[in-house]
Amino acid sequence: MEDEPLFNAGRGAVFTAEGRNELDAAVMNGRDLTAGAVAGLTTTRHPIAAARAVMERSPHVMLIGPGADAFAASQNLEQVEPAWFFTQRRWDQLIRALTEQGLPIPSRPADAPSSDAPGAQASGAPPLDERKFGTVGAVALDAQGRLAAGTSTGGMTAKRWGRVGDVPIIGAGTYASNADGCAVSATGSG
Ligand code: GLY
Repeated sequence: MEDEPLFNAGRGAVFTAEGRNELDAAVMNGRDLTAGAVAGLTTTRHPIAAARAVMERSPHVMLIGPGADAFAASQNLEQVEPAWFFTQRRWDQLIRALTEQGLPIPSRPADAPSSDAPGAQASGAPPLDERKFGTVGAVALDAQGRLAAGTSTGGMTAKRWGRVGDVPIIGAGTYASNADGCAVSATGSG
């Protein structure tokens, strides 16, 4: 789902007010309540893989910003240019939001793909129901009754000041517990 430009996660994520994609993700294992989360990634292609690496290969629960990308790179997770995440549709949404809020419009990233690249909506296509193409998440229950949950997002269009929502906050956007028989991945304005 992070590679599908229609969703607000990975490629196709919404833009910050500064015209960047800052990505958040979390994963939790309901068997032992271990969890991993990342926020503000800009170069790691699959933020959910970074969250899993935090959970499984670090002594930490949450990493943020350039350090989180550096950790992901150290774990051999694929790194990409920030323009990898660019889609014209999300850029157009940013311009509309900033215009409505009376905020300055950042320059279009120089290395952004052209407007007919993947993720651009075909001209004449019906508008998407944006509520169905937001944050992505999954919960899983295996044959042994083990639960897990994961969530990935670009956050909110035109977010500012390092804003981080609910997604990477364990117990808010993501939670799983076999003992409690519950696995949750939340979306909305967290
Ligand atoms: N639920 C996604 C966010 O608020 O960032």
